[in-house]
Amino acid sequence: MDSILVKGNGPLKGQIPIAGAKNACLTLMPATLLSDEPLTLTNAPRLSDIKTMSALLASLGAEVTSLNGGLVLAMSSHNLNNLTADYDIVRKMRASNLVLGPLLAREGRAIVSLPGGCAIGARPMDLHISALEALGAEIELKDGYLHAKVAGGRLKGGVHNMRFASVGATENFVMAATLAKGTSVLKNAAREPEIVDLVQCLRKMGAQIEGEGTSEITIQGVDRLNGATHPVVVDRIELGTYMLAPAIAGGEVELIGGRFDLIQAFVDKLQAAGLDVSETDTGITVKRGGGDIKAVDVKTEVYPGFPTDLQAQMMALLCTAQGVSNLEETIFENRFMHAPELMRMGANIDVHGGVAKVTGVKKLKGAPVMATDLRASVSLILAGLAAEGETKVSRVYHLDRGYEKLVEKLSAVGANVERISE
Ligand code: EPZ
Repeated sequence: MDSILVKGNGPLKGQIPIAGAKNACLTLMPATLLSDEPLTLTNAPRLSDIKTMSALLASLGAEVTSLNGGLVLAMSSHNLNNLTADYDIVRKMRASNLVLGPLLAREGRAIVSLPGGCAIGARPMDLHISALEALGAEIELKDGYLHAKVAGGRLKGGVHNMRFASVGATENFVMAATLAKGTSVLKNAAREPEIVDLVQCLRKMGAQIEGEGTSEITIQGVDRLNGATHPVVVDRIELGTYMLAPAIAGGEVELIGGRFDLIQAFVDKLQAAGLDVSETDTGITVKRGGGDIKAVDVKTEVYPGFPTDLQAQMMALLCTAQGVSNLEETIFENRFMHAPELMRMGANIDVHGGVAKVTGVKKLKGAPVMATDLRASVSLILAGLAAEGETKVSRVYHLDRGYEKLVEKLSAVGANVERISE
């Protein structure tokens, strides 16, 4: 297993390119199942989760060819020969559940393993099930698998009001509804930019959809979808993560490809903490002078609120802010695993239920710490950038799921980071 060594190395300077969004790519890839013509994605991120999704699609009979070093994914699902998404793949990556809607729409049947829990929560599938049942799917749980079918072979348009604006359930509903017979309306739909990106791609394939980015999406079903080529939207979570590098270590870094509209709530919080954050014509620049970071309160919410996927990283910044910050996590029930690791570095954090109270300390101290999930692991790297001495983050395979070339990107702006195999 690999570890990453980080040593505080003073202010950072330079540029970091931001890759295509993991969470957009993971819903765009299953969209290939909706058409028997080729779907090509460009600006794809080079991540282990993308490889896992490629393996899943291949296990169903689709072809996924990675070109141009992984930046281009040429896919086609001309003849699907298996409609079961196996537990051994789904348990590794919950986003595997995004083949459920497309398979039901294309084939009228699907057997998808329940993902099982993960570090940050139980992550049930009830919202996906009720959303697809609103389109005429019959879904029952047997031996840990969801067995889904459509009486009469074709989904029917329907209206569904979601209890909670689930990102994945919105994506499954929208993809399934593109081929349903008639009109579908999803109320309380999730509004994340990755959903907007998915709809823009589906529209290129011939889908008739309106309202993406709002909480009501309307889909007119069509009989078939064509192929398309689509660039994956830039990754707002990678963007926010690297914006925190100069915020924590000091200096000035430009994040190439960054856009305010993708993470306005996060930008607002960085500015409230006293950072100089500006939009350039090639991205976003974050600058931190000598001044202290001010404590700020943060509450994670569905988009356009503060993203839960940046909560752990923000906590790393607030550990050395002036004063007390309250971080409230409202999306997942167990997403503070990074707190005890940060406390090993001298952070002063008090977790009660869904709120972490962070009392700023002067400086963190490097220590051996352990990654527990994707975003927690990167928050430990960020904390190490300004800590005294060396921080060793183990189990960095978590990182490879969501951050391509992390060591190269941070080293390029002057950070002292190194990956070692043990
Ligand atoms: C997506 O997960 C992202 N993953 C997550 O990013 C992100 O944290 C999450 O949205 C929230 O923004 C991908 O896009 C691949 P949800 P998803 O359905 O779709 C509960 C990362 O770090 N829920 O919006 O699974 C669920 O338990 C990952 O990149 C139900 O109760 O998120 C959670 O508490 C982590 N029943 C909340 O809703 C359901 O049927 C949000 O889940 C579905 C979800």
